[in-house]
Amino acid sequence: MDIIAAITTRKSIRAFKPDPVPAEVLRDIVRVAQQAPSWANTQPWEFAIVGGKKLEEIKLAFAGRSGERPAPDFAGPGRLPEPYAARAGGMFAGIAKVTGMAGGDRTAALWWLQQGENLYGAPAAIYIYLERDFCFREDATNVWPVFDCGLVAQNIMLLANCYGLGTIAQAQAVHHPDILRDLLGIAETKAMLLGIAIGYPDWDEAVNSFKPDREGVDAVARCYDID
Ligand SMILES: Cc1cc2nc3c(=O)[nH]c(=O)nc-3n(C[C@H](O)[C@H](O)[C@H](O)COP(=O)(O)O)c2cc1C
Repeated sequence: MDIIAAITTRKSIRAFKPDPVPAEVLRDIVRVAQQAPSWANTQPWEFAIVGGKKLEEIKLAFAGRSGERPAPDFAGPGRLPEPYAARAGGMFAGIAKVTGMAGGDRTAALWWLQQGENLYGAPAAIYIYLERDFCFREDATNVWPVFDCGLVAQNIMLLANCYGLGTIAQAQAVHHPDILRDLLGIAETKAMLLGIAIGYPDWDEAVNSFKPDREGVDAVARCYDID
């Protein structure tokens, strides 16, 4: 698969088959993904590659805390201003449409939240974490290690696509970082940034037919003297 196909066919997968992902494939994906650039080659990313019983333990622990207020190491955006709210709203409406979930159905919304906490049934996950003090300085926040982790995360998702695997980046997967640090033996000094659920997509599930739109180039770019 060439890079353009890898990018254009990647989309978030929200229903996975239970089939396990071979260990060598997961390790290869992480090995190659690390070719991502990073500030002064600091390579701030660390990974927990998790499957099998350990992932089941994590899912169970998250289910036990379902409905609890998330306490992520990295704050989310809070209330979204425009135009972001409209884009997010369009995305949620698109999922509701293909899955048949009615807007305002609280039972369906709760069920959907639980699906997310269960990593949408993925048999494996790659958690990305990094040294807390490298990001949160006394005088300011150093965003660059997080930026670098974003680059490696996208590499992971594109590589997975090349292996016929599906992925979804999930802030939800790190909503309870204490559970992850505890079950994975990760030090308190590390901040859990993101979980990427990974597995073989269940293409029979309608939710996987959905891909939200993107803005046109003219809506997001100003061009100067390029023609
Ligand atoms: C940093 C980040 C966190 C995300 N967290 C979640 C999440 O917790 N749950 C979820 O269902 N999707 C999550 N997503 C997936 C986005 O909703 C998705 O990427 C976006 O709607 C664009 O759709 P696409 O990935 O199919 O192109 C996350 C994506 C990113 C990049």
